[in-house]
This record gives sequence, structure tokens and C-alpha cells, in this order.
Amino acid sequence: MRLKHRLSLSLTLVAASVLGVSFVTAYLVVAREETRHLDESIRAEAKATAFVLSKSAGPPRVEDARVEDPERPKRVPRHVVVYAANGDVLASTSKLSPPPPLSALGDLEPGDEDGSTQTLTISGRTLRAVVMPLARDRTEILLYAVSQGTVDEDLAYLERVFALLFLGATTLTGVLARWLGTRLASDVDAIASVARSVAEGQLTARVGGTLRGSSETASLGRDLDHMIAELERLITIQRTFVSHAAHELRSPLATLRGELQLALRRPRSAEEYKGSIEEALAETEALITLAQDLLVLARAQRAPTAASTESRLDEVLSDAVRLARGPAEARGVELSTPATPDARVRGPRADLARLFRNLLDNAVAHSPPGARVELSATMVGQRVSVAVVDAGAGVAAEDADEVFAAFYRGAKDRSSDATGAGLGLPIAREIARAHGGDVWLDRAWSRGGARFVVELPMASETPPDSSRAAAAPDDAAG
Ligand SMILES: Nc1ncnc2c1ncn2[C@@H]1O[C@H](COP(=O)(O)OP(=O)(O)OP(=O)(O)O)[C@@H](O)[C@H]1O
Ligand SMILES: [Mg+2]
Repeated sequence: MRLKHRLSLSLTLVAASVLGVSFVTAYLVVAREETRHLDESIRAEAKATAFVLSKSAGPPRVEDARVEDPERPKRVPRHVVVYAANGDVLASTSKLSPPPPLSALGDLEPGDEDGSTQTLTISGRTLRAVVMPLARDRTEILLYAVSQGTVDEDLAYLERVFALLFLGATTLTGVLARWLGTRLASDVDAIASVARSVAEGQLTARVGGTLRGSSETASLGRDLDHMIAELERLITIQRTFVSHAAHELRSPLATLRGELQLALRRPRSAEEYKGSIEEALAETEALITLAQDLLVLARAQRAPTAASTESRLDEVLSDAVRLARGPAEARGVELSTPATPDARVRGPRADLARLFRNLLDNAVAHSPPGARVELSATMVGQRVSVAVVDAGAGVAAEDADEVFAAFYRGAKDRSSDATGAGLGLPIAREIARAHGGDVWLDRAWSRGGARFVVELPMASETPPDSSRAAAAPDDAAG
């Protein structure tokens, strides 16, 4: 059954049951109260009549009379019959003819001074009657009755009112429930249709502000839109990454092929072949480095390493400095070895060393010969902060937002002969974040050169539940 039908049916059934039970209960309470009121009134009248009859001498005599209706401001005829113990009618008012036989009134309990009340139907009229012994000699029996019409009228009126209310309220509930069901169902349909479109690859599909069924479905729609937008963003990043990677791989491969084709075009001396093979080898080395960088990046993005893996900070930094020393010496740049606090940080030594090595490589590559690259480490609460400062030209303002994006290289670097794929900083950031830390460019640094800061949690700190640390201050890059 469809949601809107099920919803309207169940709401209508619930409303009908609640109303039905309430109206039946109210009806029964009113009927009992009115009958009790009528009974009290006729019992009092019957007692008064019995008292008068018991005082009068001779055979009992009763006359037609009208009494006050207990429910309405009007007078109604009363009916009185006096029976002998054997059932003979000794006296009767004229309007009750023929009087009901005593046997039809049921047995009177001995000593029941108040008598018993009952409903009688005589000649099509419904009467409420009390049957009680006459006080005079206890053998004669008095029947006192008045019309029950006003109680019946009241109850019939109540029945009509309740029936109308029941029908009206149930119909209204049904209509409202259907309207609500339709709105909710249309929201669910809209959400399902967007989910189907996304499953078919249409990442531009959005629910938008069309949901009006309930605040919950509207909020679900917003969450879904947010999720699709995020999915679209990630897929775009992924596609860009793959196309950059393919491009980066294709250029050295094309160069390699060109060199090999050139070498084979005509017979050459052993020396020339050696030169060609060395050039091809250099290209192959560059390709292997690129492939390794891509692998490291993919691995760091995949999942954080176990929180239990930890390393000594001084060992990590001395490894990084050792690895960067070759290029530094080739360029005539001096690397400072920092006084490192005695701390353990989260993450494997090799990965963390790679993080710092990438920063040092950049610092060396952008420093003028003879300059010095400063590496300093400090403790900030339960975290260590390591800064890498060089004496180069610094990161250009137009590059600052992008330097952490995969394959991004600054304008100067793109136009120079310097090799590089633009993967050093994204790898550094992924490694830092995978271990609960982060790395950012210090944009407030004004003393010349570039300053990159790495922050890592100390091994004793409880690992964050997210694999990604909060965004670094003052950094909007990739
Ligand atoms: N210390 C620095 N001084 C000036 N610019 C820098 C510095 N470090 C990074 N950059 C800029 O950031 C860009 C991205 O750096 P990244 O390390 O990601 O790539 P790369 O060094 O160009 O190549 P790769 O690291 O893959 O060999 C660089 O091209 C450069 O423009
Ligand atoms: Mg680099």
C-alpha cells in the first residue's frame, strides 16, 4: 500500500476509534445520569403518594394529576396503580388502562421500602416506574409511573449530535490525513528521484527547496543535497587528479620514447649509445619518483595509520635533514640541525621524515646559494610545532591559496627548468593529517623567505576520532 494511503487510513481509523469510544462513553454517562435523576424524582413522588394513601381511610382512591417534569419546565401526567397482594387492581388513574398485571412488574423484595425502578412499555408509551409497598399494611403495592419521553428525547438528540460530530470529525481527519500523506509522499518521491538520478551518474541533480511535507523531510533533502555536492566536489578532484597524473606520466614517457627512437634511427658509436641510455635512465628515474609520490599520496589519503605507531621527533628530523642534505650541498645551501625537544609523535618514522624532507627540499630549492634553511621545533601544549624557514623569495601571493593542491606548481617553478610534479606539499599535508596533525604556510611571516609550519600531536595525546585535523589557521589552500 502506498505511504499516503496507509497514512491517511491509519490516521482516520485512529481518529474514528478515539471519537467513537469517547462519544459512546459520554452517551452512557449522560443516559445513566438522566435516568438516575428521573428515578430520584419519581421515587420521591411515589413515597409522597404512598404516604397520602396510607393515611386515608377506606379503600385506596387515586386521581389523575400532573406533576413537574424533572428534566423540563413543564408538567406531565402521573400514573398510579394500587394492587392487592394477590394482584388485583384496587385503584388506578384513568390514563393507564389497562394497568399492567402485577406479575409483569417483577417480585418486590421483602422490606424494600424504596421500591424498585423499571422501564415499562404500555400501549406504545415508555414509562419510568417505581414499584413499592404501601406503608399502610405492607400487603398492598403501589406502582407510580411518569413518561420517560424527555429522557428518551434528550438521548435521541445526543445520538444525533454525536453521530454528526463523529461523521464530520472523521471526514475532516481523513481529508487532512490524505493532504498530509500526499505532501509527505511527494517529498519522499522527490528525494527518491534525486537519489536515482545520482545513482545513474547525474551529479548535478538536487532536491532544492521543493520539500514542504515536514521539517524533517526538508532537512533530509538539504542533507542529501549537501552530500551530493560533496560527492561532486570529490569526484571532480579525483578526475582532475587522474588527468594531472596521466599528463605528468605522459610527458617523461614521450621524452623517453623520443630519445630511444632517435638513438635507433641510425647506427651510432658505443659512446653515443651510452649517452642515450643514460638520458633514458634519468627519465626512468624521474618516472619512478613520480610513481612513488603518487603511491605515497594515495596511501596517505586512504587511511590514518594505527594510533599506536609512534616515533621520536629527533630521529624523524635527523632522518629528514640527512635525506635533504644531498640536494642542499649540491646547491650550496646550509641546513640547520635543530635542538629538538624530547618528544614522541604519532606516526611511522619514515612517513614523518618524508613530510619534513618535502618541506626541506622546497626550502633548499627556493633558497639562493650560500643561504641557510632554519628548522626549529617547539612544544605547544600536547602538540609539537616544527617550522621550516628559508631565505628565498617566499611563496607568491597568487600561489599561496593553491600550493597544497595536488600537481600545483608556482608560476615561477612552472616556467623554470626545475623538475617537480607539484606533489611535495600535498603529500606533506596528507601525512600530517593522517596522524592528527597539519601543515600550513605561515602567511603572517614577514621576515623574508617562506615559513611552513607542521603541527603534530604528541604520542601521549588521545587520538582524534576523525582522520582529518581541523583546517590550519590562516590557510585556505587545497
Ligand atoms: N619554500 C618555498 N618557497 C617558495 N615557494 C614554494 C616553497 N615551497 C613550495 N613553494 C611553491 O609551492 C609549489 C608546490 O610545492 P610542491 O612541493 O607541492 O611541488 P614542487 O616542489 O613544485 O614539486 P615536487 O615537490 O613534486 O617535486 C611549488 O611549485 C612552489 O611554487
Ligand atoms: Mg616540492
